[in-house]
Amino acid sequence: MYLLGIETSCDETSAAIVQDGRRVLSNVIASSRDLFATSGGVIPEEAARKQVECFLPVLHACLEQAGIARDAIDAIAVTKGPGLLGSLLVGTVSTRALGALWRKPVLGIHHTLGHLSSAWLAPPGEEPETIDFPLLALSASGGHTDLWLRESHTRCTLLGKTRDDAAGEAFDKGASLLGLPYPGGPSLAKAAEDGDETAFDFPLPFQGEPHLDFSFSGLKTSLKYTLRDALESGQRLADILADLSASYQMAICRHLSDRMHRSLAQHPEIREVQIVGGVSANTRLRALLRERAGTIPVRAPRTIAYCTDNAAMIAGAAYFLVQERGMSAYDTWETEASLPLSAEAW
Ligand code: KG4
Ligand code: ZN
Repeated sequence: MYLLGIETSCDETSAAIVQDGRRVLSNVIASSRDLFATSGGVIPEEAARKQVECFLPVLHACLEQAGIARDAIDAIAVTKGPGLLGSLLVGTVSTRALGALWRKPVLGIHHTLGHLSSAWLAPPGEEPETIDFPLLALSASGGHTDLWLRESHTRCTLLGKTRDDAAGEAFDKGASLLGLPYPGGPSLAKAAEDGDETAFDFPLPFQGEPHLDFSFSGLKTSLKYTLRDALESGQRLADILADLSASYQMAICRHLSDRMHRSLAQHPEIREVQIVGGVSANTRLRALLRERAGTIPVRAPRTIAYCTDNAAMIAGAAYFLVQERGMSAYDTWETEASLPLSAEAW
C-alpha cells in the first residue's frame, strides 16, 4: 500500500511517499525556521504564508523522488491537528482538493500519532525492523511532551504529560535567554558541546513524586535567575555559555529520563522504549535514556528528519490506523488546532 503523507502543522511543509507504513520512498521537507531565528519563536501568520508558497514545490519534489506513478497511490494522509490553525488549513484544504481531483481517499491524522509512528520508518534502500508491543513511547516536541503505554498502534494509554511547557519549549526559551537562535534545541545542544554539565545546579522537577507528568517552566525560571546572578557577580556570558548550556540541557534530560525510569518500574511488561519528536534528535538525551533503561532497548527515529516534523510519519501513522481500524473509520474528520491527547482522537 502506497500512501502520500502531507504535514503542515507548524513551520515545516512536508510531503512523503511511504510503502506499507515503513518503507520511505521520499520525504521532502521545506522549513521556514530561518525566518524565525531572531524572533525567538514562530510567527503564525508568516508560517502559514510560507506553507502556501512551499506546498506545490514540495509535493512535486516528493512525487518525483519517489519515482512511482500517481495511480499507484492508494490514499492521502494529512495532519488534521493539533498545530497552528493557519498552517494546518493550508495543508488540509489543499489535500482535500488534491483528493477530489485524483479521486483518492483523504485521511486526517493526529500529529502526535505521526510522531509515535516515526520509529518504524526505514530510509530509502534500508530494511524496516520488527518492533514489539507493549512499548513505552516518550514523545517530546516543541508543542507536547507525553509518555504513552502502547499495546498496538491504536491502543495507547497516556501515562503522563507536561503540566506547563513542553521539553522543546524549554530548549527554545532557554536558548532565547542565552541569546542563541531559534530553534533552541540544536543551538543549545551545540553551545553545550564543550561545557561541564555539573557546573550549575538545577532542580529535578517532581522529584520523588509517583505520577508520570512533566513540568519544565520551573527549569526555565531557574535558568533566568542563575544567569542573572552570574552576570551580577561580574561573570561574562561568553565565559559561562558552554557550562550553563550543558547544565541546563542535562537538567531537561534528567527530568525526561527520571519519568521514563519511573514508568518502567510501574510497567514491567514494557519491552522497549521509543523516544520520538523533535527533542529525540538530542544525542545527550538518547545516551542518558539508554544508560537509565538498563537492559530495555531504547529506540529513536533512524534519521534526524524523522525526529522533527515530517510527512513520512503521517503516512506511516495512516497505514497502521487503516490496518487496525479500516479505511472507512476515517471518512469524516475536521481540521482542529487543539486536538485532545488521547487515543480516542486518533
Ligand atoms: O517535533 P518538532 O519538529 O515540532 C513540534 O511538533 O513541536 O519539534 C521541534 C522542537 C523544537 O522545540 C526544537 O528546539 C526541538 O524540537 N529540537 C531539539 C533538537 N532538535 C530539535 N531539542 C533538543 N535537541 C535537539 N537536537
Ligand atoms: Zn511535531
